[in-house]
Amino acid sequence: MVSFDMKKERTLSILKPDAVRRSITGAINKKFEDAGLSVVAQKMVHISREQAERFYAVHRERPFFRELCDYISSGPVVVQVLEGENAVAKNRDAMGATDPQKAAEGTIRKEFGISISENTVHGSDAHDTAAAEIAFFFSGCEIY
Ligand code: CMP
Repeated sequence: MVSFDMKKERTLSILKPDAVRRSITGAINKKFEDAGLSVVAQKMVHISREQAERFYAVHRERPFFRELCDYISSGPVVVQVLEGENAVAKNRDAMGATDPQKAAEGTIRKEFGISISENTVHGSDAHDTAAAEIAFFFSGCEIY
């Protein structure tokens, strides 16, 4: 029998200002843990405007770039590294669609999202992006 080595993967997650402001970070972490993801690093930071522009540089040409950077730097956030099998995909499934109005029942954005801007959580969109986004916020010795 050929056995598959389901290697663990890591992804970067941000609990956005609307999540911290409403004290729902614990409820969101429970959803991640129920989905088979472990929190292996976590800290609260207040992202500066300049850091926001660098973090979201891929969206620089989008009409919502300014609003996005204003919002993510508007208050403290929780940045975290989630680990598990297929962590990128599992995290995206748990979050639901970017627009809370289009998110599936039971997802974090459906349950907690306010708008497409205040959509409660960010998660890396691919394995490569995850590595870059984790390195943006965490040094190796900060990850369990
Ligand atoms: P996030 O996963 O953090 O990645 C980029 C963010 O841009 C996304 O979540 C949304 O919050 C935001 N975004 C995407 N589309 C729009 C839009 N049309 N208007 C405002 N913000 C948007």
